[in-house]
Amino acid sequence: MTLNQYIRDVQDFPKEGVMFKDITPLLNNPKAVRECMALLLNNLRDRKIDKVVGVESRGFFFATLLAYELNAGFVPVRKPKKLPFATVSASYELEYGTDTLEVHTDAIKPGDRILIHDDVLATGGTAAAVCELVEKLGGEIVQCNFLMELSFLNGREKLGNREVYAPLVY
Ligand code: PRP
Ligand code: MG
Repeated sequence: MTLNQYIRDVQDFPKEGVMFKDITPLLNNPKAVRECMALLLNNLRDRKIDKVVGVESRGFFFATLLAYELNAGFVPVRKPKKLPFATVSASYELEYGTDTLEVHTDAIKPGDRILIHDDVLATGGTAAAVCELVEKLGGEIVQCNFLMELSFLNGREKLGNREVYAPLVY
């Protein structure tokens, strides 16, 4: 079995000219989810991760499973005005305009060892904003972890020297 076969290409979603990588068939198959988890966890068990930061919304699926497996806390990064307590925010550029992400100020302590997880690394704008949030709170980023990387969009460049890992690369 290759995990690729559980990722559905949807042409022209969410807009014309975009080929969307739909992970819902993968989520629907427990064997594929287990295989995916084994790949995502590669070499992470001995890296003393304190918290896994998951990015709303598609990053939440695997980030919570990773946190559970690593016996780490889970930290949600959310879109604006969703989190009830005090937050810090970071903005990033979209094709047209900007978007913002937020995290609770007490979710990460200085020196916490952080695994960032999202489903896709595309242009890297989202992940770079999440790195900014983690670092604002003094967290130490161990790895930026993705299910898949759309390498033709060069998202890695926005993440500088940080460790980036994605088992599926397109
Ligand atoms: C998608 C995807 C990543 C991000 C990657 O999320 O789930 O989070 O875009 O793109 P980038 O590297 O170009 O920033 P989206 O903002 O569509 O929201 P969703 O996860 O709630 O569907
Ligand atoms: Mg997302």
